Amino acid sequence: MSLLEVMGLSHSYGDKQLYTNASFELYKGEHMGVVGQNGAGKSTLLKILMGEVVPDNGYIKWQSNIKVGILDQYAHIIENYTVFQYLKTAFNDLYDVERKLNDVYMEMASIQNDKLMKKAAYYQDVLEEKDFYNIESNIAKVATGLGITAIGMDKILKELSGGQRAKVILAKLLLEKPDILILDEPTNFLVVYFPRLLIRSLCLFPFLQDLQLS
Ligand SMILES: Nc1ncnc2c1ncn2[C@@H]1O[C@H](COP(=O)(O)OP(=O)(O)O)[C@@H](O)[C@H]1O
Ligand SMILES: [Mg+2]
Repeated sequence: MSLLEVMGLSHSYGDKQLYTNASFELYKGEHMGVVGQNGAGKSTLLKILMGEVVPDNGYIKWQSNIKVGILDQYAHIIENYTVFQYLKTAFNDLYDVERKLNDVYMEMASIQNDKLMKKAAYYQDVLEEKDFYNIESNIAKVATGLGITAIGMDKILKELSGGQRAKVILAKLLLEKPDILILDEPTNFLVVYFPRLLIRSLCLFPFLQDLQLS
């Protein structure tokens, strides 16, 4: 089964026809590149795939429960966060689970019953299974790999240069471990650091291990 299936895609802006009845599929382990002149419709295609733009015609089907990560040209970051705080936001859903677990513990201090014990055990299992207790060491690993530790984990994001920001955004994306990584013109985004940095970081992905530095 394909991760992504696009059938009969057509889209135009004004009298500019970007695609006519286009179809393709993407399978696990495949890498797809979209090449075209400025204005050909590359970014629009990605926006259609992400559901940000509704196409004139066509059918887009993602395999269910798939986690898609996107590195776009205009990635949003929280300017007042430190590098470390920002990288931790990759795990916000797990910190939520930790909060719920702590609430259950608080409740258990006054009442104890089976239901609460089960709830606590469930949250503990989720955290262990998702490697919650190694978050900080995983952040450190990726940050070191991308040369972010050298910038300083306590630096405020708004004080970073464009290239440094790019590294931090890419690090967060890698920490989120998406099943599919969509990169819109990463060469522009990562400026001078491309391609060694990008390829090196993509190699951190287990399913991309076939990509090697040449
Ligand atoms: N929201 C929009 N409204 C009208 N025209 C648009 C819009 N977005 C993109 N376009 C036009 O569609 C074409 C394709 O744009 P885009 O997908 O950004 O191209 P690429 O990423 O290949 O450079 C361009 O001519 C652009 O001006
Ligand atoms: Mg574009």
